[in-house]
Amino acid sequence: MQDPGFRPGSSLIGGKVMGPAAGSGAVKIRPATPEDAAVIADIYADAVLNGAATFELEPPGPDEMARRMNDVAAGGYPWLVAASAATVVGYAYAAPYHRRPAYRWTVEDSVYIAPDQKGRGIGRALLEAVIAISQEKGYRQMVAVISDDKSMASVALHRGCGFAEVGRLPAVGWKHGRWLATIFMQRPLGAADAQPPADV
Ligand SMILES: CC(C)(COP(=O)(O)OP(=O)(O)OC[C@H]1O[C@@H](n2cnc3c(N)ncnc32)[C@H](O)[C@@H]1OP(=O)(O)O)[C@@H](O)C(=O)NCCC(=O)NCCS
Repeated sequence: MQDPGFRPGSSLIGGKVMGPAAGSGAVKIRPATPEDAAVIADIYADAVLNGAATFELEPPGPDEMARRMNDVAAGGYPWLVAASAATVVGYAYAAPYHRRPAYRWTVEDSVYIAPDQKGRGIGRALLEAVIAISQEKGYRQMVAVISDDKSMASVALHRGCGFAEVGRLPAVGWKHGRWLATIFMQRPLGAADAQPPADV
């Protein structure tokens, strides 16, 4: 059950989400700090080595993760973590969908949850927070580039957060001995395409 203050469209930093895992305590969403890089690298490493959500094959270490986090922060994009007590149990961020400037009002999200913390509502809380912040910053579209991994958790998560499937590229990746498709999902943000962007 989510904290009543934790709603899309409100300022979610500091919001809390309570997962169904009894006695495991509240999970709080906060901005990532450079000190979180090592645990974020650990969470991502599990997804790289054991999952198909990312097409990376070699997990980046903490220094490379810190560099990526710094790039996102330097661009003014949100990078959030979910922390249970002092332990980071998941993270999510928005980053440019593409670098070419006409894409500048479109962001791509990423969400990763520690293996033993999945299914508690943490991914949804993080993604809702990233959506809300991206909307507040004036971005107009959010894109998710999702692998067709077996669990389909990411598709369910994004659908629950207002994304719709807009396309599919079959067999564009090879990982864990099988071909992987990419599913594109998209969610309008704020005024979306109803008005020109703020800098016009
Ligand atoms: C995808 C991921 C981020 C979801 O996070 P989570 O905290 O486990 O998900 P939540 O508990 O918040 O559930 C979110 C929704 O997805 C659904 N869901 C979660 N796991 C699911 C699964 N294995 N199969 C089907 N649906 C699932 C939930 O029922 C929930 O639906 P609802 O909001 O309609 O109730 C997490 O599984 C993960 O880290 N996966 C590996 C990395 C990944 O795929 N990242 C996404 C790449 S962009």
